[in-house]
Amino acid sequence: MKNVAILISGGGSNMVKLVESMAADHPARPCLVMANDPHAGGLEKARQMGVATAAVDHTAFGKDREAFEVKLNTHLEAAKTDIICLAGFMRVLTPSFMEKWSGRMLNIHPSLLPKYKGLHTHARALDAGDKQAGCTVHEATAELDGGPILCQASLTIEHGETEDTLAAKVLRLEHIIYPETLRRFASGDKARIDHAIDAT
Ligand code: GAR
Repeated sequence: MKNVAILISGGGSNMVKLVESMAADHPARPCLVMANDPHAGGLEKARQMGVATAAVDHTAFGKDREAFEVKLNTHLEAAKTDIICLAGFMRVLTPSFMEKWSGRMLNIHPSLLPKYKGLHTHARALDAGDKQAGCTVHEATAELDGGPILCQASLTIEHGETEDTLAAKVLRLEHIIYPETLRRFASGDKARIDHAIDAT
């Protein structure tokens, strides 16, 4: 059985789906939900689901990313973490943190990587006139939003689509592919899967 720590910064809807999925014959269990913001809404949701939580307020560390990450690692190790899932964790992690967890860390990103690394992915897809949008689960490496792709789900951008409608549709896809990919990853399957989903 693998222990999974989920790192969040906000509401944690992906975190909830991951926690819910880790039951019965699933090869992993949630060991920790940790946020860089003590007020992240997901922390209370995790507590209500009976999952241990921690908050490490990054603002207390100023520009000292290493000191922030030492504290993250203390919590991760105390929880006997095998796999980290970044789920809307909006802090950039240093290469040394990424290397320490390399091969044991997943991320979800709201674009069809390698397109639109970073922020404002849906606005950028709409501005570019793209016909497809989607989301990606990948192994997190030292390259921001880089690393081997494990799963991608795409949908067709409709006429009149806005950033908000697209974000809502893509988030529904995220809730499908992140649990599915974690289950495979926790049992050692790193093959890439692509889904074309009509989410409308
Ligand atoms: C999700 O859309 C996730 O893909 C995105 O933040 C949102 C978190 O929502 N992550 C990134 O943009 C990371 N670069 P949630 O807190 O409801 O899961």
